[in-house]
Amino acid sequence: MDNSNSFAVVHNGIIENYSDLRDFLGKNGYTFLSQTDTEVIPNLIHYYFSKDEKTDDEKFLRAVKCCVNDLKGSYAIEVISPLYPDRIIVVRKDSPLVIGKGVKENHIASDIPALLKFTKDFYLLNDNEYAVIYNDYIKFYNSNLEEHTKPVKNIEWDASATEKGGFEDFMLKEIYEQPNSIRETIGSRFKLGEPCSFDDIDISKEYLSTINKIYIVACGTAMHAGLVGKNLIEKLCNIPVCVDIASEFRYRNPIIDEKTLCIYVSQSGETADTIAALKLSKSKGAKTLAISNVIGSSITREADFCIYTHAGPEIAVASTKAYTSQVVLLAILAIYFAEMLGSTDLKILEDLKKDILDLPSKIHAILDNTQELQDFAKKVYTQKDMFFLGRGTDYNTSLEGSLKLKEISYIHSEAYAAGELKHGPIALIENGITVISIITDSNLVEKSISNIQEVITRGARTLIVTNQNLPNANFDFVINIPKTNPLISPILSVIPLQLISYYISKNKGLDVDKPRNLAKSVTVE
Ligand code: AGP
Repeated sequence: MDNSNSFAVVHNGIIENYSDLRDFLGKNGYTFLSQTDTEVIPNLIHYYFSKDEKTDDEKFLRAVKCCVNDLKGSYAIEVISPLYPDRIIVVRKDSPLVIGKGVKENHIASDIPALLKFTKDFYLLNDNEYAVIYNDYIKFYNSNLEEHTKPVKNIEWDASATEKGGFEDFMLKEIYEQPNSIRETIGSRFKLGEPCSFDDIDISKEYLSTINKIYIVACGTAMHAGLVGKNLIEKLCNIPVCVDIASEFRYRNPIIDEKTLCIYVSQSGETADTIAALKLSKSKGAKTLAISNVIGSSITREADFCIYTHAGPEIAVASTKAYTSQVVLLAILAIYFAEMLGSTDLKILEDLKKDILDLPSKIHAILDNTQELQDFAKKVYTQKDMFFLGRGTDYNTSLEGSLKLKEISYIHSEAYAAGELKHGPIALIENGITVISIITDSNLVEKSISNIQEVITRGARTLIVTNQNLPNANFDFVINIPKTNPLISPILSVIPLQLISYYISKNKGLDVDKPRNLAKSVTVE
C-alpha cells in the first residue's frame, strides 16, 4: 500500500532500481514500512497520480504507466484502488502474467494451471502491455496507452489435470502419467513408414543445410534433457551441438551467428535466464527454436519457431514428465532433421521410431514393479551423501537423478562420469556410502562394472539400474529395466531414479511437491 492507502499492489519480480526510487520518494515526503522493493511501486503511483491535474477516467492508468516507466527489472504488477473499485490494472515485463476470462468475472495469475478450475480462456499479456480488468470486460493498451484488441486463447488442458486424482502427491501422479504424456508428445508427429512432420515449424531443408552448429540452452532438468538431445542430434544429423546452462550462456558472449540454430528448452517457458539467453542469440542473428510445455508462454512468443511437449500441466516443483517429454521431442526433432538432411540411413531412423513408440508400454512395466525401489529407499533415506555414476548417456541420466534427489530429499549428492571417479571423487567413497549406477549401453558394460567394483571394494552400498545382463557380482540392489535404443534409454532409466527420490522424500516425511527454497518457475535471475 502507498502511504495514503489509495493504491495496493501485488508484485512478482524484482525492481532493480528500487533504492534510487526509494531515495527519490523519501525526498518527496514518502515513508516506508518495509525493506521490500515492491513498496516503492504504490508510492510512485500515488506520486504521479497526485501530480496529474486531469480528473478523467484514465487518470489511474496514467499514474500506473508513469510509475512503470521509472521501473527497472522484471515485474508482473497488479494494482487496485478504492478510488476505482470497478477495476484492476495489470502490466508485466519479463515476469509471467495470465488473465483468465470468465463469465461476469475475470482472474489473474502467474500461471495457467492456477486458473483452470475457473476458465480455459486466457489472455496472455506481452511485455509492457497493460490490461484494465473489469468484471465483465477487459481493455488492453500498449506501452503508449493506445487501446487495442487482443485475441483470447483457448487452453485445452483439463482442470482435473491440476488435481491429484487419487495419488498422494502431484509428483507421484506425474511420474505415473508418463506413458500417457509421452503418447501426447509423439501425437501425430510421426507414423511408421512415413517421414516425421512438424506442422508447427517452418524449417526448410535449405535453411538446415546452412547450419553448422546447434546450441541447446536451458536450466536444471531441461538442460539435462538437452544433454540427451545433443547425443541424438550429433549422432543422427552430424551437426555439432553445444549444451549450455542459460545463466552461463547469457554472460559468456557465445560465438553464434546466422549459421547457428539455438534451441531453448523450458517446461514453464517463463525461466528468466532462458528467456534472456534466447533474446541474446536472436540479437546475434541466430534462429531460435523454443521447446516448451506451456502454450503461449513467454519463450514461445519470443522464439522464431516453437514446438510444444504437450505433457499436460506439471504441478510438482520437481520436474518428471516434462523431462521425459522433452527428451522424446528432441528425439523426434533429431529424426526430422536427419530425414531432411539425409544424414542417417532410413532403416536406422525407422527402428528408432519403433523404439519411441514402444516407450509408453516399457514405462508401464517399470511403474508396475516398484517394491525393490521402495525397499532401497527405506534402507538409505537417513544417509547424508550419495553418488550417481554413469558413462555416455547414462552420465546424463545420473545428473538428472542426482538433481531430483537433492531437490526433494535434501540429500547431498553428486553425479560423476564413471571414468572420472579415479580422478578425485573416489577419495570420498567410504564404508556404507550409497552409489547408484546406470548401465544401459552394451559397449560400456565392462568399463562401468570395473568402476563399480572400485567402490564396492571401498565398502559402498550399490544400486544398479540396467537393461543389460550383468555378470554375477555383489551388487546390493539391481533394478532391471526394458531394453531400448541407447540414444533414448534415459527416458526409461530416469524413471527408477525419479521414484527413488520420491520414496526417500516420503520416508523422510518431507513435502514432495513443494520442496524448500524452490519455485516451479524461476522467473527472476
Ligand atoms: C526440475 O526438477 C527443477 N525444478 C528445475 O531444475 C527446472 O527444471 C528448471 O528451473 C528449469 O525450468 P523450466 O523447464 O521451466 O525452464
